[in-house]
Amino acid sequence: MDQFNIFLIGFMGTGKTTIANCLSRKLDRKVVEMDQIISERAGMSISDIFKTYGEQHFRDLETGILVETQSCMPVIVSCGGGTPMRECNVREMRKNGRIVLLTAKPETILKRVKSNHDRPLLENNKNVAYIKELLEQRREKYEAAADLIIETDEKTADQICEEMLSRLRKDISEH
Ligand code: S3P
Repeated sequence: MDQFNIFLIGFMGTGKTTIANCLSRKLDRKVVEMDQIISERAGMSISDIFKTYGEQHFRDLETGILVETQSCMPVIVSCGGGTPMRECNVREMRKNGRIVLLTAKPETILKRVKSNHDRPLLENNKNVAYIKELLEQRREKYEAAADLIIETDEKTADQICEEMLSRLRKDISEH
C-alpha cells in the first residue's frame, strides 16, 4: 500500500475531502487537498481565482500540483472535481498512484453542496437537472480514469474507507 499515492476523483459533493481525511487517519498518511493548496497559494478563494484569472489558469494550477505529488509519496490526494478531464492529469496520476472514483446520485450531490458558496460551476446552478447534465458530460472520463469505483450514497465515511481499502489490497495482491 505504501508504494503508491491514492488519488480520489469524482464530481463535486461526492465526498473526496471527507474520505481523504478519514483515510488519512486510518493509514497515517498526509492529505494533499488540491483546492485548498491552490486557494492558499493564490491568497484567494476558488471563485475569485475563476473570476480574476479564468478557469484555464485554475486548470493549469491543478496540473502543476499533480506533477508535484510525484515527489511526495505516499499521500492521499483529494482532487478537484474537474481534474480528470485533462488526459495529461490522468497520465500524471497513473505514474505512481491508484485512482479511486467516488460517485453519488445527483440528489445526494445537491444536498451535500447546497450551502457551499465556493464552487463557481455550481453557484447559479444548484439544481438536480444541471448536476445530472454536467455529471453525464463527465462520466466517460471519470470512469476511464478510475481503477476503482465506489458509490457513496447512504454510506458512512468509515464504510466507504473500509470498502476502498479492502478492494485496493485485493487489487494489489492480484497484480
Ligand atoms: C470543480 C470542482 C471543485 C473545484 C472547482 C472546479 C469542477 O472541487 O476544483 O470549483 O470542475 O468540478 P471539488 O470537487 O472539491 O468541489
